[in-house]
Amino acid sequence: MTFRSETSTVPPIVLNDGNVIPQLGFGVFQVPADDAFPAVTTALEVGYRSIDTAAIYGNEEGTGRAIRQSGLPRDEIYVTTKLWNSEQGYDATLRAFDASLARLGLDYLDLYLIHWPVAAAGRFIDTFRAFQTLKSQGRVRSIGVSNFTVANLQRLIAETGEIPVVNQVELHPRLAQRELREFHAANAIATEAWSPLGQGTVLGDRTITAVAAEVGRTPAQVIIRWHLQLGNIVIPKSVTPSRIAENFDVFGFELTPAQMNAITALDSGSRIGPDPDEFTFGLID
Ligand SMILES: NC(=O)c1ccc[n+]([C@@H]2O[C@H](COP(=O)([O-])OP(=O)(O)OC[C@H]3O[C@@H](n4cnc5c(N)ncnc54)[C@H](OP(=O)(O)O)[C@@H]3O)[C@@H](O)[C@H]2O)c1
Repeated sequence: MTFRSETSTVPPIVLNDGNVIPQLGFGVFQVPADDAFPAVTTALEVGYRSIDTAAIYGNEEGTGRAIRQSGLPRDEIYVTTKLWNSEQGYDATLRAFDASLARLGLDYLDLYLIHWPVAAAGRFIDTFRAFQTLKSQGRVRSIGVSNFTVANLQRLIAETGEIPVVNQVELHPRLAQRELREFHAANAIATEAWSPLGQGTVLGDRTITAVAAEVGRTPAQVIIRWHLQLGNIVIPKSVTPSRIAENFDVFGFELTPAQMNAITALDSGSRIGPDPDEFTFGLID
C-alpha cells in the first residue's frame, strides 16, 4: 500500500522512488504528549493527510492513536517519523524503527528520516543501510534524511548508491536555503521545510504583513503559499484549532512573482535551530 493521493485535496509531490507525498502536512514538534491526540485529530478533520512526528518529540503514541481512530483508511494518511541521533548505526536503527512503529501502533511507515546527520559520529551511512533494509522489507515506503548539508548528501549518495527522497531542513523567509534547494533540484531530492513559519517569528515582518494585506490573507497563509509556490513540501505546526484550519486554507489564492521575490529577499541566512554541522545532541559517546 502506498499513499492514495487522489483522495486528498492537497497537491501531491512525486518522489524519486515513485511514491507521492502531500505537499502540505502537519508537524507536531513541541506538541506535548497529551496534546498530540486532539491536535492531530483536528488536523485530520480539517483535511490534512500528512503528519510529521519524530521519536524525540515524545508524542508518537498520541499521534498514532489519532491516526488510527480517525476513521480514515491507513492508505489515505501519510505518516513520517524520524530516527533520533542516539539510535544511529545499523542494528540500533532497526530496533529504533520497531519501537517507533509500536508507539505509533502502525504496521508500516510512509517515510522514515535520519533526524540529524551527526557527521562527526560517522554513523549515517550504516544508518541509511538499515533504512534500505527496512524499505526492502516493505516496512517503510520511502527513506530520506533531515538536516543534511550538500557535503553530507554527496557522501550518502556516493557510499550507499541511493538518493534520499527528501531532505527536511530549516527553511523560512529568513533562511531560504537557495544553495541547498538548487542541489536538491539537480539530484531529484524533494525539499521539505521545517519551522516554515520561523516558529512564528516571521509573521510580524513588515513585508509579510504588507503582502498579506494586498492579498487579503493572514501572514501565515502568505508564508505557506510562498513555500508551496517555491515547490517545497511544508509542515506547519499549531495546537490552536483555528490556526490549524487557517494554515490549511491556502489553495484559493496565488502570490505574484513580485510578491514571491519580495518575500525571498528577506533571506538573511538566520537560523532558529542549530547548525547541522555542529549539532550532536543525544549522541551517546
Ligand atoms: N527535522 C527537524 O529537525 C525539525 C526541526 C523543527 C521542526 N520540524 C518539523 O517542522 C514542523 C514545523 O516547525 P515548527 O513547529 O518548529 O514551527 P512552525 O510551524 O514554523 O511554527 C509553529 C509556531 O507558530 C505558531 N503558529 C502556527 N500557525 C500560526 C498562525 N496561523 N498564526 C499565528 N501563529 C501560528 C504556533 O503556535 P501554536 O501552536 O501555539 O498555535 C507555533 O508557536 C514541526 O512541528 C516538526 O514536525 C522538524
